[in-house]
Amino acid sequence: MNPVSISYEGEISIVKISNPPVNAISLEVRNGLLDAINELEKKEEVKAVIICAPNRTFLAGADIREFGKNLGGPTLSEICNKIEKLNKYVIASLHGTPLGGGLEVAMACHFRIATPNTKVGLPEVLLGILPGAGGTQRLPRLAGIEMGLEMMLTGKHVPSQEAIENGIIDKIFEHTDTISNGINYAKELIQNNSKIKRTSENFSKVKSEEDYSEIINEIRNKYKSKHKNLFSPNAIIESVQQGLKLEFYAAINNERKLFEDCLYSPQREGLIHTFFSERAVNKIPELKTAKSKDIKKVGVIGGGTMGTGISMAALNAGLSVIMVERDEELIKKSFKKIESTYQRNVDLGRISLEEKNKLLGNFIGGTELEKIADRELIIEAVFEEMDIKKEIFTKLNKICPSDTILASNTSYLDINEIAKVTNNPERMLGMHFFSPANIMKLLEIIVGEKTSAETVATAFSLGKKMKKIPVRSGVCDGFIGNRILSKYLVATYHMVEDGASIYDIDRVIREFGCAMGPFQVIDLAGGDIGWATRKRKAPFRSKNDRYVEIPDRVCERGWFGQKVGKGYYLYGKDVKPLTPNPEIEEICKSERERVGINPKEFSDKEILDRYITALVLEGVKILEEKIAIKPSDIDVVYNNGYGFPRWRGGPMNYADKIGLDKILNNIKSYEKENSNFWSCPKLLEQLVSEGRKFKDLN
Ligand code: 3HC
Ligand code: NAI
Repeated sequence: MNPVSISYEGEISIVKISNPPVNAISLEVRNGLLDAINELEKKEEVKAVIICAPNRTFLAGADIREFGKNLGGPTLSEICNKIEKLNKYVIASLHGTPLGGGLEVAMACHFRIATPNTKVGLPEVLLGILPGAGGTQRLPRLAGIEMGLEMMLTGKHVPSQEAIENGIIDKIFEHTDTISNGINYAKELIQNNSKIKRTSENFSKVKSEEDYSEIINEIRNKYKSKHKNLFSPNAIIESVQQGLKLEFYAAINNERKLFEDCLYSPQREGLIHTFFSERAVNKIPELKTAKSKDIKKVGVIGGGTMGTGISMAALNAGLSVIMVERDEELIKKSFKKIESTYQRNVDLGRISLEEKNKLLGNFIGGTELEKIADRELIIEAVFEEMDIKKEIFTKLNKICPSDTILASNTSYLDINEIAKVTNNPERMLGMHFFSPANIMKLLEIIVGEKTSAETVATAFSLGKKMKKIPVRSGVCDGFIGNRILSKYLVATYHMVEDGASIYDIDRVIREFGCAMGPFQVIDLAGGDIGWATRKRKAPFRSKNDRYVEIPDRVCERGWFGQKVGKGYYLYGKDVKPLTPNPEIEEICKSERERVGINPKEFSDKEILDRYITALVLEGVKILEEKIAIKPSDIDVVYNNGYGFPRWRGGPMNYADKIGLDKILNNIKSYEKENSNFWSCPKLLEQLVSEGRKFKDLN
């Protein structure tokens, strides 16, 4: 069925687009739109055309599932040009989220009207491309170079009020009926014999004789570090810059060329994989069968690093929070941190003083556990010790109603074992936030043996309310993220003991695109955390496991990283970032001597190969054991919790790209040195022998 229909109301024509769920501009939509315009072009009696998409939202952009498929048909750019050239009023009647190609269609129309809740944007940069249907030329003409570039380089969604103030839309209608809004506006235009306003002919904000190079350079520098390694932001800037010199349609052709360069780049592929993976996290069995409960009252136990961050994430979601700590001083300390974070947001103009007071008004602190007995969901974030956690859940089991959902924020501990102290373990699960919990997007939802589907669905829905990306994980030591982290850290320690430099490893991983190298991460999180975990695991370590003691030697000296000013690097007011701790190399040297290793050289390639191979190897084991339901969930965990470059799509997607046979060969060759550590998972052998990829398991 044609997703584009035309109807008429006197001399006004209504072009309706319907392509659920978000009216993405697919090949059928493009064909339908072109046919509609061709038909309307011939109808002289039609004085005004309204383009709208009355379902969930106006067009939310090109259908990104079609990218890279070469489906042919008219380009959206050609359609936009045809729309703009029509000799009758063309009105885009907007609502929802007109994004990307959706806003580009709207900007090619002569007028844009919107409902109050509309948000517009050109988020192509987040997908590794640039607006390719005239957006880089028409947005600066409407909103100016600065606003236009800001929108295209951040991908931010601009609310209708801000959009009207910046000239992107012309009028806001209080009514939500986009068709009647369009008809009313069209009648007004016809009655007033208004002039057609073509965006390409608008020179009020971008004047060709003006020199914008300084502004453009300033904006380029502002986003330099954020866009490090990325290809499309430069293409966006180039397209805008060229647009200042070229005639409009020459600039449109130039934009198209740059768009195609981006379209066929691996970064686009990685970022779109990331986009769909982040939506696919919801495709889990529990969400198909169970209904979630609407949580409004949350309890948090422990007001340390995590409890404080989790409380803020909950307050930001409009929830009421009661925190319980061991003593009043600790509550005060946590409250002070919350208060100062919100005050900083006030100072930066992110929230008003009123909003800050409202947020703080939803927070209560105390020292008696009984205080949280009325909470619908409780998140425990006390010390990482099984006995303490069990004691707390035993008490909660007594004082809370039997349907209160009980969650632990443990990083590694066995949720099934903790759940045993409760009478009804089906309401128990893990909610593993990442630090700082008010900022980091990732939330692992740890599903125990007995956790009910309703409990899982409720935790997912609460996570989304808290603006997190929840990912389902089964129970194992460290769940998805930390279990993989433990594996590649050990591979890294092996390399260091064999002769690789800690600073080379960090550099190679940064150059690969990760936010930080592994030793920087250890310094940031605190070396003591990993040390405690290594000590906990020591009794279970097999004699055949290769254990490198270098990190223990570092911790024994109290060099826990940033919080003490010294770790693998040095920290301090006058210390340059990434200054190596000069004593580390000495520790490595003496440890190599102690265990009798003759150090060898590691090339950058070998460092990266071993690091990625260890990461992917553990990922495959996690899939085999069904800890993660699908490879893309591992990608989402790594992109959002561990600084893996989003544009590589995540480690499993990256492994698909470089070839699973290569990962398998690496494992087989390393296996010869240490078969305990590098044992090859059957699933990987099977995928390689069948010529399949991880993406086939998604
Ligand atoms: N193409 C194809 N599918 C899309 C899509 C798109 N542009 N946008 C969303 N979808 C799909 C999602 O994958 C999801 O599918 P699923 O139900 O099978 O998982 C479904 O639509 C609903 O999406 P969300 O779950 O994200 O729904 P929300 O209501 O939370 O958000 C949204 C809606 C704000 C529109 C969000 O989906 C979004 O940001 N979409 C992408 C918008 C975008 O980037 N547009 C630019 C595209 S590139 C372009 O236009 C190029 C042009 O310059 C030529
Ligand atoms: P933390 O040491 O900063 O805070 C723990 C808090 O719990 C302390 O303030 C302590 O006073 C309080 N506490 C201890 N026993 C208590 C009790 N019986 N009743 C009330 N409060 C009590 O620890 P952090 O870093 O916040 O970690 C908490 C939990 O979150 C741990 O299980 C940890 O593994 C996990 N986690 C930590 C992350 C991190 O990066 N720090 C990341 C993700 C999870």
